[in-house]
Amino acid sequence: MIKFTSVTKRYSEPEPALKDVTFNLEAGQFSFMTGHSGSGKSTVLKLAHMAERPTLGDIFVNGFSSKRTARRDIWKLRRQVGFIFQDFRLLPNRTVLENIAFVLEVINTPSKEIKERSRILLNKVQLEAKSDRMIEDLSGGEQQQVAIGRALAGNPVLLLADEPTGNLDTESTKNIMDLFWSINQSGTTVLMATHDLNLIQDHPQARLLELHSGKLINDSGIKASY
Ligand SMILES: Nc1ncnc2c1ncn2[C@@H]1O[C@H](COP(=O)(O)OP(=O)(O)OP(=O)(O)O)[C@@H](O)[C@H]1O
Ligand SMILES: [Mg+2]
Repeated sequence: MIKFTSVTKRYSEPEPALKDVTFNLEAGQFSFMTGHSGSGKSTVLKLAHMAERPTLGDIFVNGFSSKRTARRDIWKLRRQVGFIFQDFRLLPNRTVLENIAFVLEVINTPSKEIKERSRILLNKVQLEAKSDRMIEDLSGGEQQQVAIGRALAGNPVLLLADEPTGNLDTESTKNIMDLFWSINQSGTTVLMATHDLNLIQDHPQARLLELHSGKLINDSGIKASY
């Protein structure tokens, strides 16, 4: 589902953000990606989403090649991939419901189904009671839950989640992890960046990829898919 082969990514700094990173995440797997701040976790996810391109090396995501996918075709990949941004990137001045409904409209959901599907998604992230609230009136944790609901709206084959529980309390984190496991069980591949070691310890069934200063220093290997 995601294949990185000798990927190096250099931004403006001379020191690359990623150095010769190689890994292969099979369809159906659940993997954490951990490492200290600045180790390159978000960079891996942005490359997998083609928001960035590698400086060196090859990336394949759900059959799309970093070398061969034209900019105008990236939407075809993104239609099948849910992305939870570290900084949420919700539509401001819109309600919770409108943020979810917007994605459903983009993927051509019949208009009579939009309300019901939005309601189901908001129920999954435990925000149904706040569906008419404006985004800017929500707490950071609640905004994160909206961002999670939005990422799942298109039933993605792949979920790229960047610190998706970073703003959540223990109970909401558990709900979101249960939700991720359940979508993984129904076939969605999950790659989740986190530096929450307790969370990783609580889920030994997941694969663990660890970055240190842009290098992949640890890979617990391919674990059984669910
Ligand atoms: N757009 C950019 N331009 C220049 N440098 C960048 C850019 N994005 C990231 N970097 C640098 O690349 C390195 C890796 O950053 P990245 O955001 O991938 O780390 P991270 O592991 O996600 O960190 P955190 O845990 O703080 O979210 C850092 O040194 C960062 O400063
Ligand atoms: Mg990051």
